[in-house]
Amino acid sequence: MLMNMKELLAVAYQHHFAVGSFNVANSEFVRVVVDSAEEKNAPAIIQIHPNEIELLGDEFVAYVRERCKNAKVPMAIHLDHGASVKDVMRAIRNGFTSVMIDASHASFADNIAITKEVVTLAHHVNVSVEAELGTIGSNEGSSEGGADEILYTDANDAKTFVEDTGIDTLAIAIGTSHGQYKHAGKPELKLDLLAEINEKVGIPLVLHGGSDNKDEEISQTYLHGVAKINLSTDMKSAFFEEMRRFLTANQSAYEPDVIMPSARKAAQQVVKQKMDLFNSTNKA
Ligand code: 13P
Ligand code: ZN
Ligand code: NA
Repeated sequence: MLMNMKELLAVAYQHHFAVGSFNVANSEFVRVVVDSAEEKNAPAIIQIHPNEIELLGDEFVAYVRERCKNAKVPMAIHLDHGASVKDVMRAIRNGFTSVMIDASHASFADNIAITKEVVTLAHHVNVSVEAELGTIGSNEGSSEGGADEILYTDANDAKTFVEDTGIDTLAIAIGTSHGQYKHAGKPELKLDLLAEINEKVGIPLVLHGGSDNKDEEISQTYLHGVAKINLSTDMKSAFFEEMRRFLTANQSAYEPDVIMPSARKAAQQVVKQKMDLFNSTNKA
């Protein structure tokens, strides 16, 4: 069933687990997420980045909506890292039930102003809003962007930001980056800062850059207000690594129904592990 993300995250926030939000870039990944969620009896979010919408076309969103609607578990369809009011409007027109406006690179005042504008627009049509304060890091190859240097979220600013904008959920920077930590090694997350932010803002928090972190740290985050964890790289890498292996071993393969299943299975294994790790298994 298709839901507004606000309702989905309220349950997670209250019961101390996190809903996985997975970036899809084609129908194979949609199936990976929906099948995993149903098998794990876990709520899940499908998120699409503007670059991915550019790749797929607006009509694809209608297909994702239909899949979410028919799923046996609660699901939401969310715009990941919307960069402008235009991105948000396009997403709302196409049936997203939730949007992110990421003006985290702008000044504090400008971030508040643009986020406020999006909240007014989106809430009018019952669409939930995520915004970001502070900037998470970026690793090579990730299309979701980020900054070279992490700007940690300030807890007092977060309180002001949430009160002034009326957002439903806040993305915070506590040490993660998009993508894999190839050279730098896995970061140490600032869990004390997370606890402080959680205490001050009192709304569900979002952790971006969910791939390639220490499991024992991830399982602390949802004890301190994180109700949504964004995951892209770990799932996509598993899919394409298996596809690469399969195509190398089967040089003349060309039929999708021959090539796709093992890749899908590999990605699904990762997604199901994450649902266990996020403590969202059997929470549907
Ligand atoms: P990862 O690629 O590190 O999983 O980050 C995903 C993300 O934050 C998408 O917004
Ligand atoms: Zn992100
Ligand atoms: Na990451």
